[in-house]
Amino acid sequence: MTTLRSELPEWNALAAHAADLKTQHIREFFGADPERFHNFHLKYDGLLFDFSKNLITGETLEMLRDLTRVCDLEGWREQMFSGKPINITDERPVLHCGIRKQPASADILRERERLFAFCNRIVDEGKYKHVVNLGIGGSHLGLQMAYKALKPYQNDLKVHFVANIDGSRLLEVFEEIIPEETLFVVVSKSFGTRETLMNATTARAWMQEQGLEDISKHFVAVSSHVDRAKAFGIDEDSIFPIPDGVGGRFSLWSNVGLSLCLGVGPKHFQALLDGAFSMDAHFQEAPFHENIPMLLALIGIWNRNFLKHASLGIIPYTQRLSMLESYMQQLDMESNGKSVDRQGRFLPYETGPFIFGETGTNAQHAFFQLIHQGTEIIPCDFIVIKDPKHPLDEHHHVLLANALAQPQALMQGQDHDDPNHVFTGNRPSNTLVLDVLTPYSLGLLLALYEHKVFVQGIIWNINSFDQCGVELGKTLATAIENQSKSLDSSTQGLLEHLDLFHD
Ligand code: F6P
Repeated sequence: MTTLRSELPEWNALAAHAADLKTQHIREFFGADPERFHNFHLKYDGLLFDFSKNLITGETLEMLRDLTRVCDLEGWREQMFSGKPINITDERPVLHCGIRKQPASADILRERERLFAFCNRIVDEGKYKHVVNLGIGGSHLGLQMAYKALKPYQNDLKVHFVANIDGSRLLEVFEEIIPEETLFVVVSKSFGTRETLMNATTARAWMQEQGLEDISKHFVAVSSHVDRAKAFGIDEDSIFPIPDGVGGRFSLWSNVGLSLCLGVGPKHFQALLDGAFSMDAHFQEAPFHENIPMLLALIGIWNRNFLKHASLGIIPYTQRLSMLESYMQQLDMESNGKSVDRQGRFLPYETGPFIFGETGTNAQHAFFQLIHQGTEIIPCDFIVIKDPKHPLDEHHHVLLANALAQPQALMQGQDHDDPNHVFTGNRPSNTLVLDVLTPYSLGLLLALYEHKVFVQGIIWNINSFDQCGVELGKTLATAIENQSKSLDSSTQGLLEHLDLFHD
């Protein structure tokens, strides 16, 4: 049986090293080494990664490297990229990188050409003015996040997103669209998700009520289950498949990206894939000390398992990435929120951190008090755009000053006679700077975080590609809906109070 990670000598060496470093302060490291930034930052393809404001030394990185060796990280990486069935729970390979690979395989290329031909036709014809994406989780978050991030690249089609089963969202969108000019895109890998199917059914009925009897020109689907989409009433020609091996939260790159591809056009969608591919190549080829996803992931491991920090803040200093937090929450927490290793043993060590975030500077006026002076240490990733490509230079100047000041304050701290004004500092952060926020650089950034999640999953010896933990809630919701199970008194009491089964 594989040795538990926490029983490996390399793990225990890191624990001892952490006990030693915890008595030190990051600002002392800067004082002792004027070259610290130089030594602890990397640049790749328009991205700068500064990890100097962490409680690490060169020795820490060497020890983390030893941990990757004993966990056979390179072997696992090779297995993922070569399509081995590393998603053991579902007995599937993990194929999202294959979709953006260059040169693409004939199958992938054929599928993409079909997607692009469809999107080009819709955009060129100009018959539709509204696209409504009906999907949730991985069939929603990446799409809307990227659509917002790529605002300057949007065309005349307005893309709306309905994820929640809360009818008020669908009603809101009905008020914004014109039925004759609307294309609904039903995105569901399983084509069995309650929220999406209910929203799609209501949308179909609404279209018919509006006088559109033949809805076939107004509905397309993206799914792994073509038969289910057909049974819903969508023409086979209007169904775009998703390969089984592409997990929901990793599926933006596939046909799942259809609504985004419509909203920004195939040229920009291709650039998103190109950026992600560039990061894939970097992750596979860059040596350890230059490998950005590897180091980002290992610093996360260091913070989580050895310094015992339970959370991670994602703070983009650009309003265009206002949905990045939600996307990262699914990517990271659905992947690495696990308590059992690949051998089925309950783990005695911590796995995925709690991910949360907000754009800067808004976050500064909401929860940064706790990040600066709270009793928990919360590592943060600051994401900064060098050139915003908008004309309000003064705004950007102030924004950047804030983006630099926060990590500096967290690291440095402040002494003061009044304890209320003491900042202990020694609070770690990474800063990632993109030259510009384009489809290409967004692809690069997202793939970086995908690989971070992968590396951490390997170090924790968990399967990052299943999500068994979402099932129980779904089953119980169905049981409550159908009144098919006896309930605890609290649930029963609430159900009665809500008058759930009134006639
Ligand atoms: O409930 C979680 C989940 O299965 C996610 O993993 C997935 O992205 C989402 O639901 C939507 O699933 P589907 O695309 O099958 O509708």
